[in-house]
Amino acid sequence: MPPVSLTINGRSHGPIEVREGLSMNDFLREVLGMTGTKFGCGAAQCLSCAVIVDHADGTSSTTPTCIAPATDFDTLAIRTVEGHATNGELTPLQKSFVAHFAFQCGYCTPGFLNEGQVLLERLERAPIPRVDLERTIAEALDGHLCRCSGYVKYHQAVRDVVLADPKRFLT
Ligand code: FES
Ligand code: FES
Repeated sequence: MPPVSLTINGRSHGPIEVREGLSMNDFLREVLGMTGTKFGCGAAQCLSCAVIVDHADGTSSTTPTCIAPATDFDTLAIRTVEGHATNGELTPLQKSFVAHFAFQCGYCTPGFLNEGQVLLERLERAPIPRVDLERTIAEALDGHLCRCSGYVKYHQAVRDVVLADPKRFLT
């Protein structure tokens, strides 16, 4: 049984021996009890299971966990929905999701939250013109499926965070 060591939300985990082929989603939910990361389609199609991977160059991206083996995440630093709020204080994006009633069942929310956060951090590093904002948000959230059809509200929630602090995100 191969061991897995990684950092999740700034905290080290492992080495933990996992059974051959255990998915990252099962590792998070069943081995670590971190059930905030959801399991939707199980086929890398809906991104409800997406987590943030923080790269050594300071950039981040999201990746689905449902079909990826846990061993693929060995040595990585990731963030999950449980890692956004600090001491119970929601992030601006979380607050915006709530303010917009962006979610209904909430199953897709961790994936949208992680994607939106990655986008905000990208815009902080490389601000864009206002004229490009709508397209940039749409492209970032593209691929995340919401069976409750909250797409417009998710989009508006991300946009509001950007427009609340334009000097930070826009040129
Ligand atoms: S559950 Fe992983 S992409 Fe749908
Ligand atoms: S809020 Fe139900 S799937 Fe998106």
